[in-house]
Amino acid sequence: GNKNINAKLVLLGDVGAGKSSLVLRFVKGQFVEFQESTIGAAFFSQTVAVNDATVKFEIWDTAGQERYHSLAPMYYRGAAAAIIVYDITNQASFERAKKWVQELQAQGNPNMVMALAGNKSDLLDGRKVAPEASIYPSPLLFESYEAQTYAQENGLFFMETSAKTATNVNDIFYEIAKRLPRL
Ligand code: GTP
Ligand code: MG
Repeated sequence: GNKNINAKLVLLGDVGAGKSSLVLRFVKGQFVEFQESTIGAAFFSQTVAVNDATVKFEIWDTAGQERYHSLAPMYYRGAAAAIIVYDITNQASFERAKKWVQELQAQGNPNMVMALAGNKSDLLDGRKVAPEASIYPSPLLFESYEAQTYAQENGLFFMETSAKTATNVNDIFYEIAKRLPRL
C-alpha cells in the first residue's frame, strides 16, 4: 500500500556553503545570486514520492555562522536525515563539514541518514576539493580532500550538487528518501 512518511531533515555546514540555496532550489525551484545569510534557522517542507511511499520532508535550514552553533542540536535532535554541505571551492568549508559529521556521530540519532553535498559544482575552475582522488594525476595535491572516500569511510553518501544549475539537487533528497527506514 501507499505509505506517508514524515521525515525531519537538517542541513548543516559552513557559512556560504549553499544550504539555503539548495533548499530554495528543492522547494521552490529558484536560485538567487545574493542569498542572505541565514539567521538562526528557517523551516520549509517538501514532498517526494519514492517507490510505494510519499515522504514529507520537514526541513530545517540552519545558520552556518559560528555564533549559532549552540542552536544546532535543537535542529538535528530527532532528525531522520541530515545533509552536510560544503563548497567545493573552499577547503575550510570541507574541514567544517567533517566537524559536523563528527558532532552528528557523537550526538545525533544513530540511525540518521547522512548525505555529504559538495555544492557549487558549477564552479569547476575554483575547485579545491576533489570528488575522488583517482581522477587527478597528482594524488599529493589532493590527498586530504577525498570527499567520496571520506564519505564512504564515515557511512555517508556523497553527491556533488549545484543549487545554481539544479544539478543533483532533487536527486540528493530523493536518495535520502529511498534510504529512510520504512515504518
Ligand atoms: P549561511 O546561511 O550563512 O550559513 O549560508 P548558506 O550555506 O545558506 O549559503 P547560501 O545558500 O546563502 O549561499 C551563499 C552564496 O553562495 C550565495 O551568494 C549563493 O548565491 C551562492 N551559491 C549557493 N549555491 C551555489 C551554487 O551551487 N553555485 C554557485 N555558483 N553559487 C552558489
Ligand atoms: Mg543560509
